[in-house]
This record gives sequence, C-alpha cells and structure tokens, in this order.
Amino acid sequence: MPFVWTDSLELGIEEVDEQHRELFRRGERLYHALLHGQPAGAELMLGSFRDFVLSHFEFEERWMRRTDFPSLAAHCEAHRDFAKRLHRVTGEYRRHGPTAEVAETLRVWLEAWLREHIGGADRALGHWATTH
Ligand SMILES: [Fe+2]
Ligand SMILES: [Fe+2]
Repeated sequence: MPFVWTDSLELGIEEVDEQHRELFRRGERLYHALLHGQPAGAELMLGSFRDFVLSHFEFEERWMRRTDFPSLAAHCEAHRDFAKRLHRVTGEYRRHGPTAEVAETLRVWLEAWLREHIGGADRALGHWATTH
C-alpha cells in the first residue's frame, strides 16, 4: 500500500505532523486518480496537492525565520527543488494524460521524497524549534 503514514515520521509537533499526514493522504488520492485514468480527478488532485504543499512549505519557512533556523537556505532550496519537480511531473501528465506509468513515476518519487525530507530536514527543524 503506497503512502502509508509511519509513526516514526512524527516530529511531536501536532500542527506540523497533521500537515505531513495530510500530504500523505493527498499523495495517495493523487496517485489513485492518475492510476485509474480519471482526467478531471487527476487535474483537480494535482492542483489541490500543489496548493497544499506550497502552503505547507510557507508555513515551515515562516517557522524557520521566526526561530532563526541555521539551515534555512538549504531547507528552502529543497522546497524549491521539490516545487520545480512537481511542475515537471504536472507537465508530463498534461502531455501523456493520467496513465499507470505517470502514476508510478509520481508515487516512487513523491513517497521517497516525503519520507526523506520529513525524516531529515523537517526533523532537524522540529528539533531546533523545540530546543530554541
Ligand atoms: Fe520542509
Ligand atoms: Fe514538511
């Protein structure tokens, strides 16, 4: 089952953990919409996923500025790279439509990125914010 939330990804900060859980839920909905080839659903899910992830990034970036997080630049850069890649994936989807291949490519990349970013950069931010 893709996009299963793992408790080890919890940072212990409820507001952020809930946003991360929501990213997993939306990732799963997006994957299924692409996999089952529903163009209207996939377009809607892509748009709502993008909006949600961008507002989550803004939330974290405000939080970093507020707490003078030392790795702010690198963390923001990781967010920008993600947004660019999502933009490319959206372009691919528009060219090929919602296919199993586009769905798999998105799932593999998105799930790995979320696990790595939340478990690494976001965990470091959570640790910093709760100790400073
Ligand atoms: Fe982040
Ligand atoms: Fe995050």
